[in-house]
Amino acid sequence: MNVEAVELAQGVHWIGALDPDLREFDIILKTANGTTYNAYCVRGSEGVAVIDTVKENRAEDFFARLEQVAAYDEIKVIVLNHLEPDHTGALPELMRRAPNARLYISFKAQIMLKALLKSEELVYTTAKTGDTVSLGDRTLHFLHTPFLHWPDTQCTWLVESGILFSGDVFGCHFCDPRLFNDRVGDFRFSFEYYYQHIMRPFREHVLDALELIEPLDLRLIAPAHGPILRDAPGNYVRRYRQLAQPMLLNEAGDRAKTLLIFYLSSYGNTARMAQAVRDGAEEIDGVRASLFDLQGGEVAPFVDLVEEADGIAFGSPTINGDAVKPVWDLLSSLTMVNVREKLGAAFGSYGWSGEAVTMLEDRMRGLKLRVPVKGIRVKLIPTDEELTLCHAFGRELALHLTGQVTRKVITMEELNAQTSNSKEYLHA
Ligand code: FEO
Repeated sequence: MNVEAVELAQGVHWIGALDPDLREFDIILKTANGTTYNAYCVRGSEGVAVIDTVKENRAEDFFARLEQVAAYDEIKVIVLNHLEPDHTGALPELMRRAPNARLYISFKAQIMLKALLKSEELVYTTAKTGDTVSLGDRTLHFLHTPFLHWPDTQCTWLVESGILFSGDVFGCHFCDPRLFNDRVGDFRFSFEYYYQHIMRPFREHVLDALELIEPLDLRLIAPAHGPILRDAPGNYVRRYRQLAQPMLLNEAGDRAKTLLIFYLSSYGNTARMAQAVRDGAEEIDGVRASLFDLQGGEVAPFVDLVEEADGIAFGSPTINGDAVKPVWDLLSSLTMVNVREKLGAAFGSYGWSGEAVTMLEDRMRGLKLRVPVKGIRVKLIPTDEELTLCHAFGRELALHLTGQVTRKVITMEELNAQTSNSKEYLHA
């Protein structure tokens, strides 16, 4: 394989590695086009900086490229924009070969660095937005961009050259040895897919990062994966802005709270409960409740809705001791979006055991939703009295959404005291 370093600008080289055969990244991402681990070398009048490294199994290529453009004793600075192993696999060996280099990491990366290198006695410098390091005639300026994609992440701006070393931001898993966005194949799918899976759960952090990045006079974006964006780099910044904006118009109006009620029903019992919950919620001013039968829907559009909703409720029968699969499918898809602190609730009809409601509540708590109102279970066909309870349940959810009920902290004793009699929970 060709292991030439590739010049991006005078004194700036790509020294990363190609991984064309990778078909799955971090277990959860498909990588039909493989990936690249992009690392860079910047030469200044008073020293050399290496920005990021590569996955450990590609270290040989990285060092071969690095050695074409710098001697190890020239390296004064090693910048780690992100400490995930795909960018730090070659770090220990690089530190061994370049003992004059000082590490620069984001201030949020310290614990990770110690865990990564298994040492408490490391010498490094932490950086926050606005901090700089000089290479003589060139300046590295740090931008703190947490959660893109881990808490530790930062971007590094090479001021004089207008190059942003952006880490995972603006990256994608797409391997093409032609490297530059104006030369490689069509990578739009990979760019969008990467955003949806890596950046989307941290949409608010993307917006914060864009506030830092958009004012820059970008001449080139050098991400940690995929094509180097030298042709119209601003287009990718604008695309991130579009992707991070709310995708759907909030038809309920700016001040209304939205409650989405998803259900499945074998015999119409859970459906009747769902309708009563919806009717109860809609009685509260400032709440718009919507009902969706999961039997008739694809998961992806519902994920978009959930991302912008204030509360979600799931109605599921219990079948073979479990909630039904479409409900789990939707819940498992919610890892793609930020649902932290949204209101969650569950209800459902059951035949003999009725575990589904509790299981769904536990899962929602695991996703960091708040579940302030104990769910309702009804044995088989809901009576009028039980439908009244469902109605009251919907009202109470709406009152929580509008801040008219203060949050109640449920103790372990209360949690353990769950029984099949829903009435005692409803107004707890
Ligand atoms: Fe490319 Fe989050 O590591």
